[in-house]
Amino acid sequence: MVKMPAEVRETLEKQKPIPIATASKSGVPNVVFVGLLKIVDDETLMLADNFFNKTAQNLAENPKISILCYNGDTKKSFQIKGNVTVCKEGENFDQMRAWVHGINNKLPAKSCVMVKITEIYNAMWGPAAGKQVA
Ligand SMILES: Cc1cc2nc3c(=O)[nH]c(=O)nc-3n(C[C@H](O)[C@H](O)[C@H](O)COP(=O)(O)O)c2cc1C
Repeated sequence: MVKMPAEVRETLEKQKPIPIATASKSGVPNVVFVGLLKIVDDETLMLADNFFNKTAQNLAENPKISILCYNGDTKKSFQIKGNVTVCKEGENFDQMRAWVHGINNKLPAKSCVMVKITEIYNAMWGPAAGKQVA
């Protein structure tokens, strides 16, 4: 696991909506936007599955994710990769439901997707493009 440097955290905090990519077991890619992403700590993110379909299927068979963020003001962009655990009960699930239903209690809050960050890359254009930052 790696820790998000402050500049990565700040860039991710401002990204709305957030593109997340998953892949099937056979490698078919899929990208969707999410609005509900919580930074739990510098190593851990929480996503709320309200409407995931192919995304949920992909995570069930290939528990890896890639998350992208960009800030045009600071000219910073990062690609965050992680390993995923999906839960439908327990402490994290209860926290996810309280968070989501605090925003809108009509949302289904089907499952909680916990992401442990494994790698972070610079995704900005220029000479540092593609370099690993954590
Ligand atoms: C701006 C925006 C924010 C969204 N936020 C979420 C979200 O936080 N959670 C969620 O489950 N779906 C969210 N969606 C829906 C997903 O992007 C997508 O429609 C859903 O996962 C179905 O696609 P899939 O079959 O590829 O998974 C959002 C869509 C948009 C356009």
